[in-house]
Amino acid sequence: MPLDTFAHERPASSAGLFELAPAKINLALHVVGQRADGYHLLESLVTFADMGDELSFCLADEDSLMVSGPFAPALSVGVEVDNLVLRARDLLRDCLLKSSQPAPPVAIHLEKNLPVAAGIGGGSADAAATLRGLLRLWQAEIAEAELLALALKLGADVPMCLKGEALMATGIGEDITPLPELPSLALVLGNPLVGVATPDIFRRLATKDNAPIGQIAAKDWMPLLKTLRNDLEPPARSLVREIDQISNMIGGEGALLTRMSGSGATCFGIFPSADMAQTAAANLCGQKPDWYFQAVQTVGRKSGETS
Ligand code: C5P
Repeated sequence: MPLDTFAHERPASSAGLFELAPAKINLALHVVGQRADGYHLLESLVTFADMGDELSFCLADEDSLMVSGPFAPALSVGVEVDNLVLRARDLLRDCLLKSSQPAPPVAIHLEKNLPVAAGIGGGSADAAATLRGLLRLWQAEIAEAELLALALKLGADVPMCLKGEALMATGIGEDITPLPELPSLALVLGNPLVGVATPDIFRRLATKDNAPIGQIAAKDWMPLLKTLRNDLEPPARSLVREIDQISNMIGGEGALLTRMSGSGATCFGIFPSADMAQTAAANLCGQKPDWYFQAVQTVGRKSGETS
């Protein structure tokens, strides 16, 4: 029987095949309906940061998972966010074994750099990175449609995290259209380290005006982004009072726009340049050393300064 070892310290060697699990940022998230099974239909403009959790994979005598990093203590056995790595491994293995492809034991190391239950991917990004990493380690082949279906079984956000590029997500998040023209943005992420359970936020969603994002044909992204919103922000703000404060703090540092990502509580500000984002993050860390602030650059078309 495979043995899953959890440990919250850095292993002696982090050697092995490396995968970044980038932070996912919902630049906008409109809820446009609800399915009969309760899942909500969304339109979301999504991008990914140049930092995130870090995973490495090595062939081993038995299966194991080690967790280290600043947010490792927030994880424990039984918490969905780290189980998603194990579920991704097991689902992929079952799928490969059905097509007689080998999927031998693997030692996985997860460096948890992102706050947990924070609206920026976290567990979904880790699950997606596990699928990508193990496919490479096991030198396995799987059709893209099958891989995306497998990712969806792990969570609505896992297919988009598998892509890791600027995109528009519709359906429950699984219908993906790449948006290569979206520019790379300088952001500051801020989180008050209050974990938020996504189902709680969806349950609190009150009125929906069902206004879709629609076709994106923007050259001027900032004016467009200002017209869009995150429909999960009002219910999240009613549950986590610190969201107002963190959003105001980021705005006070000169952000062109502030929003919440996903179901929160992480908020982000878009800054005119990477230097300004770095300075803002440093100032914010000074003001609230116990909270999480991080300057990041998002993937996308390089276009110099944010317009
Ligand atoms: O798919 P995932 O496990 O990430 O979703 C967690 C929960 O969030 C779901 O059980 C559901 O309550 C809610 N959800 C939703 N609509 C979505 C995505 C998630 O209602 N599009």
